[in-house]
Amino acid sequence: MPGIVIVGVQWGDEGKGKATDLLGERTEWVVKFNGGNNAGHTVVIGDEKYALHLLPSGILSPGVNPVIGNGVVVDLGVLFEELEALDSRGIDTSRLRISSSAHVITHYHRTLDKVQERFLGKRQIGTTGRGIGPAYADKINRMGIRIQDLFDESILRQKVEGALDQKNHLLTKLFNRRAIEVDEIVEDLLSYVERIRPMVADTSLVLNEALDRGEVVVFEGGQATMLDIDHGTYPFVTSSTATAAGAASGSGVGPNRLDRIVGIVKAYTTRVGAGPFPTELEGEEADWLREQGHEYGVTTGRARRVGWYDAPITRYATRINGVTDLVMTKLDTLTGLERIPVCVAYEVNGERVDEVPINQSDFHHAKPILEEHPGWTEDITGVRDFADLPQTAQDYVLALEEMSGTRISVIGVGPGREQVIVRHDLVD
Ligand code: GDP
Ligand code: IMO
Ligand code: MG
Repeated sequence: MPGIVIVGVQWGDEGKGKATDLLGERTEWVVKFNGGNNAGHTVVIGDEKYALHLLPSGILSPGVNPVIGNGVVVDLGVLFEELEALDSRGIDTSRLRISSSAHVITHYHRTLDKVQERFLGKRQIGTTGRGIGPAYADKINRMGIRIQDLFDESILRQKVEGALDQKNHLLTKLFNRRAIEVDEIVEDLLSYVERIRPMVADTSLVLNEALDRGEVVVFEGGQATMLDIDHGTYPFVTSSTATAAGAASGSGVGPNRLDRIVGIVKAYTTRVGAGPFPTELEGEEADWLREQGHEYGVTTGRARRVGWYDAPITRYATRINGVTDLVMTKLDTLTGLERIPVCVAYEVNGERVDEVPINQSDFHHAKPILEEHPGWTEDITGVRDFADLPQTAQDYVLALEEMSGTRISVIGVGPGREQVIVRHDLVD
């Protein structure tokens, strides 16, 4: 079972980093295929806590070869900061390989991200401000800068000039900002050339050869299904393909090499940034859930919006991604609730709708139809066998499994690497 994709089911922060790390001991390769340093993946190993943004979580496992695929947008300053931070903590980062076709995020992308958001005012998306959207826009607009461009100064300069010709009009005339100098960008990018040179590889070839040898490759998705550029709650989405299909295009392997698609889902729901969220809570219930789950963003520190589990979203994500297994995280967070509401369908314009409405206005106005399940009060953070969970916790998981139509193979009962209940092996 060599190709395993990890994708977020909801709006991100489901615990993808932990799930990837969990597979670390059984994996030769972990490739990040989409997004950039908008991601924030927390991995807790013993007493150590690591927050990774741009680097694949697999980098923390000694036997894993980490790869940044062509589908990623790379902020080189962030890349080296993260590498240095890990090196200083004794993590060996020397095996990292980066696709020569990955695009780079520059100063003008970060600036545009911020000024565009400000310009949107009330309609803002609540981006992470890392330049992700503008970098992907340039890629699609065929005016992006790729890692390989760094190795030819004259090409690099031409490309930066071409991009800034347009961007400086926007910055100075529309957004009232200062123009950005070509030299400033070129010099900044060139300052990384010698450090990045040994890492750059034909990552598609490397990964395909690894798969041919029968080695295990984990494709670690950033963001999540409901933030996917095509299938998410557009325009309140990120700018990349965060769903399983992106694993193939974002790393250069054929879709037939993706053997298992693992959807990571929280036992409730959270969202950072603006956009529809039918089961969202407010007031005391929201505060309780947010505190209990420590729901504050790893990347921006923002308080996450919180709400109950939404079964139609998991069904939708299962369909869009072809999910074969679910990893349900943070079951422990719900401990102490007398009754746990779960959204089983929506009410839209007075009618019951069982699936995620594809019309965005309908989804915006969808009211959750909630079904209540009995809760539990016992501490479950030390449980490792499903049968040892309180009966009501078992019933909650089984009910969600039934509604989602996909087996829940792993259950998270705490942030630690070992705090999991494995019902079905993800690598077999
Ligand atoms: P990612 O972006 O999907 O990798 O998720 P984040 O790291 O942004 O957010 C998930 C948070 O939940 C992190 O702080 C994890 O350490 C934590 N976490 C993951 N699984 C569990 C779990 O089963 N229980 C608890 N209590 N925390 C978890
Ligand atoms: P991980 O990988 C949660 C959200 C932002 C914003 C929208 C667009 O940790 O799950 P962007 O900066 O990407 O243009 O922002 O997407 N967003 C995330 N929310 N987890 C993430 O990553 C996210 N990455 C982006 O909050 O609403
Ligand atoms: Mg996160």
